[in-house]
Amino acid sequence: MSPISKVIINKDTNITPIWIMRQAGRYLPEFREIRKKNTDFIKLCLNEKLSAEITLQPLKRFNLDAAIIFSDILMLPYGLNQKVEFKKNFGPLLGELNLDEVSKLNEFDFVKKINSVYKAISLVSKNEIIKNKSVIGFVGAPWTLLIYMINRQSPKLKLKNDFFKDNSFINRILIILEKFLKIHIKHQIDNGAQIIQIFDSWAGLLEEKDLPNYIFFPTLNLVEYVKSLNVPVICFPREIKNYKEFCEIVKPDAISIDYNVDPKDIVRDIRIPVQGGLDPKILLTDKETLKKEAKKYLDIFKDHPYIFNLGHGVLPETNPSMMDYLVKIVKDY
Ligand code: CP3
Repeated sequence: MSPISKVIINKDTNITPIWIMRQAGRYLPEFREIRKKNTDFIKLCLNEKLSAEITLQPLKRFNLDAAIIFSDILMLPYGLNQKVEFKKNFGPLLGELNLDEVSKLNEFDFVKKINSVYKAISLVSKNEIIKNKSVIGFVGAPWTLLIYMINRQSPKLKLKNDFFKDNSFINRILIILEKFLKIHIKHQIDNGAQIIQIFDSWAGLLEEKDLPNYIFFPTLNLVEYVKSLNVPVICFPREIKNYKEFCEIVKPDAISIDYNVDPKDIVRDIRIPVQGGLDPKILLTDKETLKKEAKKYLDIFKDHPYIFNLGHGVLPETNPSMMDYLVKIVKDY
């Protein structure tokens, strides 16, 4: 069993495996080299050979315990024929959503459009480097995808005032998302993903009263689906105010935490395995600070099943030597 599975399934507290969100990406010169020649990000995600190569880049440099497939949560709306572009220095930009068109789409068309993502997972999982490591597949949570599909770009700090105005439109999207998220998860698992992580990057934007409808129930439904396939599922409801309540209702196999929540509260309140927490900005400081801050998390979760990770993705300006140092700190602890 891989170290991450030992922590999640056996609740092993003797080991602390490590992987990093966005570990395959812009802080690596070898990624930037490929990216320079491939200006269309979606096309790059759909190039199974390059996607597999990028996925493995960080594992060739650092002693990480997992590969997370190089893709994006927005491949799902792309698979649903919504236009998705990534504009330099701006982020994602989506096209108009035509629900009547989307409603006509079937599993076959969807899978055909993004089939290379599954082929990339299959290539990665067959690679020698993966021995005794985990291959992590992922999806965006329904709430976060709903935001991108309606807002058509990152929401920054708050939702538009009229976001909830068309309730029946929102409910139709949620039903479509549930169907295709399950298809997307199933195909990733069938092609070698051993763990699924659900990214809910915008969980923190919702008011308490809206959590059941948009986060708890739709995510619980997905979590139960992944569990029914006998695959562990990690949830990352970033900046949700109450992680304890989330865990009690949604019951993921492990919970990934952001950097604004106090890890001492988490270790006191939560019984399931925990992942992450360290502020990615710490990797922009110096080795001494990095060691001190990483040890803080290692000490707090010493007797708790814990997977080391950050509280959000690694920043593009990170020096790879700091990443190397972080992995060594965790491995030598
Ligand atoms: O973690 C990994 O290494 C695997 C690959 C991965 C990417 N995106 C590649 C990527 C994963 C797991 C994601 C998830 C993702 N994508 C999330 C959830 C996690 C989070 O960061 O909150 C979200 C919200 C997205 C949507 C998205 N994709 C945004 C907002 C952006 C632009 C901002 C940014 O960070 O550049 C992307 C682009 C993106 N996704 C890049 C990468 C490597 C950068 C593309 C580039 O090279 O220009």
